[in-house]
Amino acid sequence: MTDLVIHNARVMTCDPTGEGLGMIDRGAIAIAGSEVCWVGAHADRPHGGRELDAGGRLVTPGLVDCHTHAIFAGDRAAEFGMRAAGKSYLEIARAGGGIAASLGPTRAATDAALVAGLVARLDAALAGGTTTIEVKTGYDLTVEGELRLLRCVAAAAATRGQRVVPTLLAHLVPPERAAERADFVAELCEQLIPRAAGGGLARSLDVYCDDGAFTLAETRAMYAAARATGLAVRGHAGQFRDLGAAELIAEHGGLSADHLEQLSDAGIAALASAGTVAVMLPGACVQLRLPVPPVERLRRGGVAFAVATDLNPGSSYCETLAVQLWLATTHFGMTVDEAWLGVTRHAARALGVSAGTIAVGAQADLVVWSCDDPAYVPYRYGADLIDAVFVAGERWDDPARGSRVARDAQSRSPSW
Ligand code: NIG
Ligand code: FE
Repeated sequence: MTDLVIHNARVMTCDPTGEGLGMIDRGAIAIAGSEVCWVGAHADRPHGGRELDAGGRLVTPGLVDCHTHAIFAGDRAAEFGMRAAGKSYLEIARAGGGIAASLGPTRAATDAALVAGLVARLDAALAGGTTTIEVKTGYDLTVEGELRLLRCVAAAAATRGQRVVPTLLAHLVPPERAAERADFVAELCEQLIPRAAGGGLARSLDVYCDDGAFTLAETRAMYAAARATGLAVRGHAGQFRDLGAAELIAEHGGLSADHLEQLSDAGIAALASAGTVAVMLPGACVQLRLPVPPVERLRRGGVAFAVATDLNPGSSYCETLAVQLWLATTHFGMTVDEAWLGVTRHAARALGVSAGTIAVGAQADLVVWSCDDPAYVPYRYGADLIDAVFVAGERWDDPARGSRVARDAQSRSPSW
């Protein structure tokens, strides 16, 4: 039984069985309940239920943002000003700014304030077409506080239709524990990681392995603890210095290695043989004026790449994947197809979830764009090109968006 047929659409399936975008130039998608039950040529479409004429528009999978730090309190706009005036991220961090500067406001915030802040960011992401989003902790850095953040992520997610994928992030050793880092790492391994995994609060452990954060040996110990408790492994690797984190992530069968501005050929070979996804974070890279990751070497090495916002209060306060598509294609040298796969199918792979494709049996998460060419979205960067978002077959409308989005999904001839 078909509930909804979206027809006369340029469908980007991101076909899981193929290599590319799997475009169907004049296509249609049928939805039953929360799932896609048919996808194919417009002329062959089934009938029944509601019908929406997409008027030749591009319809893509709901976007997948596979790397965010979206739960925090306070902002660090002053640091942005300092960087614009020439100070570096690491200089600011060494002077007491950076990640450590977000700990105080986050620890002091009530659960209600943290949930409200996250919900606002989830809504902004959904308005930009993101229907699956990862959220990392990492701005408390005490055992009880990190568990609280994970519970707040679950509470925010329960109020939203979007799929939210929680990750425990070992972000750095907080300043008050600097003299006893070994004890802090042991606490994470023996208490926090098992409790986050045991409560089903997190799916993965991410460790920031870099200058000013965790060493390779500390990261190794935490990955071992994660695997012992069933958490998947992901990591911030080589943003400032290549400490060998990519190889370590690959050795642990990690889902993704993220940032990768600094990456050796050995790291690339390790990622390729483990099938680990390289997550590109162009917004943070540009904002911190870092060198571009080795996209061409990754491509030649056969590593799949994803593209994400890195939404966080320091290096990239941005919910919008379309902006990242623009930076990925202009500044990182990715092709339009690579960038789109990076915010859909490959991003889902980086999270270990099933999303980012339009296929029979997939959850019906879809975006209808006000253009017909995938290249148009990064080309018209900054423009609002989204006409409609569907999550699990339901049309999501943001009351703040006004009348561009048709209100009545029951209509047989909607005004897109
Ligand atoms: O991914 N590099 C580590 N973490 C974040 C920055 C977090 C912050 O500055 O608050 C990142 O860029
Ligand atoms: Fe990050």
